[in-house]
Amino acid sequence: MLRFDVLTLFPDMMSAVMGHSILKRARDKGLLEVRVHNLRDYTDDRHQTVDDVPYGGGAGMVMKAEPIFRAVEALEREAFAQGERLRLLFPTPQGRPFTHEYAQQLATERCRMVILCGHYEGVDERVRLALSPEEISIGDYVLTGGELPALVLIDATSRLVPGILGDPQSLKEESFADSLLEYPHYTRPASVRGLGVPDVLLSGNHEAIRLWRRKQALRNTYFRRPDLLKNRILTVEDQRLLDEVIREGVVATSTHNREEGGRRL
Ligand code: ADE
Repeated sequence: MLRFDVLTLFPDMMSAVMGHSILKRARDKGLLEVRVHNLRDYTDDRHQTVDDVPYGGGAGMVMKAEPIFRAVEALEREAFAQGERLRLLFPTPQGRPFTHEYAQQLATERCRMVILCGHYEGVDERVRLALSPEEISIGDYVLTGGELPALVLIDATSRLVPGILGDPQSLKEESFADSLLEYPHYTRPASVRGLGVPDVLLSGNHEAIRLWRRKQALRNTYFRRPDLLKNRILTVEDQRLLDEVIREGVVATSTHNREEGGRRL
């Protein structure tokens, strides 16, 4: 069971996503628990103030430290009473890059993970100083708050937990599971707006299909993310397929069989 506690000023943003699809099913099946806590509930003034102007002036508001301390302490007390540990995660563009390996590490985590969602211009620095949260960035861009990154962390991590995805095979084959991008997928009908399906996928020859998919994965990776192939030791088969890809060049990157008289979108 993977457990997250999210500290946020916008609990509705979390529930909107958590109530759907695979994450909802995972929660219903008891494989994932996500509790959302409103930081306003940890204020003690009449206006439930969670932010204030920055010392030294400047634009924007800064999230106050005290409600965050209180919320984390409440969770710590609860964890302590149950003999558990907490791991405090803090999404921020300054954090360690979130990757498939990072998600895999969180997916095996036994303790409760608390995600602190920042907002406005930032969070009072004393939160960092006192709590030393694990800072995580989901990419080199700046979002308006930590809720979307929190959802990204929860989504990418949960789907790696056995039993949460319907078909465990799809985990094995997908992008990044072995540092390759995915091969292209097709479903019925066999012709869509004049675009066909590669013959090999209709052939019923499982070995030929496996090789075609592997080669497409290598092709996608070689042309789109060559950095993923660097320092990677390839099997003899992968090296042979990659040699073919390189020999064929960019011309063959389109996998669509255009049908006679077909029309492009
Ligand atoms: N908060 C705002 N932008 C972010 C980012 N890129 N990653 C994580 N947290 C953030």
